[in-house]
Amino acid sequence: MSTPSLLILAGDGIGPEVMDEVKKVMAWFDDKRGLKFDISEDLVGGAAYDAHGTPLTDETMAKAQEVDAVLLGAVGGPKYDELDFSVKPERGLLRLRKEMDLFANLRPAQCFDALADFSSLKKELVSGLDIMIVRELTSGSYFGEPRGIFEENGERVGINTQRYTTSEIDRVARAAFELARKRDNRLCSVEKANVMESGILWREVVTKIGAEDYPDVELSHMYADNCAMQLVRTPKQFDVIVTDNLFGDILSDCAAMLTGSLGMLPSASLGVPMANGMPKAMYEPVHGSAPDIAGQGKANPSATILSFAMALRYSYGQGAEADRLEAAVEKVLADGTRTADLMQKGDGTPATTSEMGDAILKALTASL
Ligand code: IPM
Ligand code: MG
Repeated sequence: MSTPSLLILAGDGIGPEVMDEVKKVMAWFDDKRGLKFDISEDLVGGAAYDAHGTPLTDETMAKAQEVDAVLLGAVGGPKYDELDFSVKPERGLLRLRKEMDLFANLRPAQCFDALADFSSLKKELVSGLDIMIVRELTSGSYFGEPRGIFEENGERVGINTQRYTTSEIDRVARAAFELARKRDNRLCSVEKANVMESGILWREVVTKIGAEDYPDVELSHMYADNCAMQLVRTPKQFDVIVTDNLFGDILSDCAAMLTGSLGMLPSASLGVPMANGMPKAMYEPVHGSAPDIAGQGKANPSATILSFAMALRYSYGQGAEADRLEAAVEKVLADGTRTADLMQKGDGTPATTSEMGDAILKALTASL
């Protein structure tokens, strides 16, 4: 078997510095667990724009299509705010998602015991929280046509189109049902069937798949606005949530904040199986490029390190090593090592990005 490949796209802002810590973790797995990766690196987002005038070159896109997995840092920053829409850093990310056809975006919102106090909700509402949001990532209003800004009756009109085909709903729903089976066997499908035809179709398709192929999974339906409310009211009522691209964007930010620590949350974007049987995949932290703290050694590398753990699990068939890495991160938190985002005023001196990485390496070594 050839060495599994990984393309690192560190991107902008804190992306490169958190990625440095992931590289240390990869070196540890190579050295201590004999897990070798054929690692290549390239530019995405503003960094790619600065070098090439585009947020993602065709060469980088082609490379992403060939590797076993892509690990992305973050894109964007105020420096690029004035750029034309077509070359904004985010366009690079959206092109990767669309052209790799990464239709199932897994966004876990897990509350680490040691961090329950950081939630904006009461501790008892969030301690032990473990939700998985499955967001459709390649369609809906992010990509639907027609789109654009047009002239109409003497004024301008901005148009985006919410559009879902049955096959697009079908494949993401199946991914969510499968995940629910591996968890607490409960799936909540979210749309606005009360006002949107795309929501009516969504509900019909999900209901049919559930009845025909997943009768063992407890399926419920919820309108997106109610879901937002329920997430902040009693978040632990949810196990797996499946929803469209735009609702998923919004609800996953809401769920992430419940955990109190955006700096801890990874994500996986999965597509159809490749020749080796593993899905096409890209992994990235849920947080953004945090330009305000970039380059200062303040960023928390945990979300990106945990994204690599998801890669070990979903792309490299190394579930036990993924467990080991996740346990190491939890141990570091339980032992009290904290980057600035996990501290409150008067809590003492925060760990730097690299100190956090080193603490995770130490916990990994202790796990042997
Ligand atoms: C996300 C982000 C992206 C999105 C942006 C950066 C394009 O908010 O991954 O949730 O809207 O999908
Ligand atoms: Mg978002």
